[in-house]
Amino acid sequence: MSELFASPINASTRYCAVYGHPIKHSASPAMQNAGLAALGLNWRYLALEVRPEELRPALLGAKAMQFVGLNLTVPHKLLAMDMVDVLDESAKHWGAVNTVRFEGRDKSGTWLPLHQFTETPPDKIRSQGFNTDADAITRSLREDLGVELRGARVLVLGAGGAGRVAALKLAAENVGELFLINRTPSKAGSVAAEVRRRHLDVKVHVEYPRGEVDLTINATSLGLAVEDPLPLDAKQFSLRQTQAVYDMIYRPSETPLLRAAKVAGCRIANGLGMLLYQGAKAQEIWSGQPAPVEIMRAALKKNVYGL
Ligand code: ATR
Repeated sequence: MSELFASPINASTRYCAVYGHPIKHSASPAMQNAGLAALGLNWRYLALEVRPEELRPALLGAKAMQFVGLNLTVPHKLLAMDMVDVLDESAKHWGAVNTVRFEGRDKSGTWLPLHQFTETPPDKIRSQGFNTDADAITRSLREDLGVELRGARVLVLGAGGAGRVAALKLAAENVGELFLINRTPSKAGSVAAEVRRRHLDVKVHVEYPRGEVDLTINATSLGLAVEDPLPLDAKQFSLRQTQAVYDMIYRPSETPLLRAAKVAGCRIANGLGMLLYQGAKAQEIWSGQPAPVEIMRAALKKNVYGL
């Protein structure tokens, strides 16, 4: 599919962006720009390398330049909780921000998406943080792996922003048992405590499972770089113990973890579906229109697989 832009960049073009570190692997610009063009919006979506120590000024910069909105990826999703002006219920509930919408206050005191101010400028601008990852995770797990989550035993690798949301969302879907593993064990411990506090029925362990699990999810950044080790300790857990493996990483499209899981006979899926659904929802939050999901999916597949 060729990338058709609604119009050339001009003085009215509005901007969105994803901030991350690293960001070069991101397929979001291909996906989002295809969607924005299909909606006929004179907007562009950029990918910007932002170091965590510069997240705050980078957020202020986008606000000052009246961007429409932002996506945030590794390692910004938790940090941004304290940096946006207001938090939507979704960000409060899941404890991480992956989508920001810039909003302006009109004469009557109502906050509206900033792109709606075409003639009169707003008298004040604010940033609002949302989370669109949680629903995207479980939708992709169901569609791409056919996992029955209710009652399932699930191993989650990683307890950063993505791992935390995954664990909490799985608990909300009534999985039976969760096993949480993280390089920094205290972070897995605090996610476990949060899950226990909210979901009394879910058994949570901060250790590798003994016996079989239905699903293993990689929510660490291990696998992004070719030299990365596997995100799990093969001495403590064999991939033969899991039916299915989901890697939130989508580039490379087959991480060493997914390759090893395939050899072990597991069903596997990468994070493309999660990226698609979180991105489509983010676009809806910015534009107020339904996102052209199939166009975005095709652009994503072309970008990642060259299809
Ligand atoms: P995100 O918002 O995408 O989850 P993050 O909050 O920075 O990003 O989380 C990154 C995850 O990858 C964390 O679980 C992190 O482990 P720590 O909590 O110990 O930092 C994990 N991770 C990153 N680099 C790692 C490495 N070299 N080895 C093991 N785990 C790593």
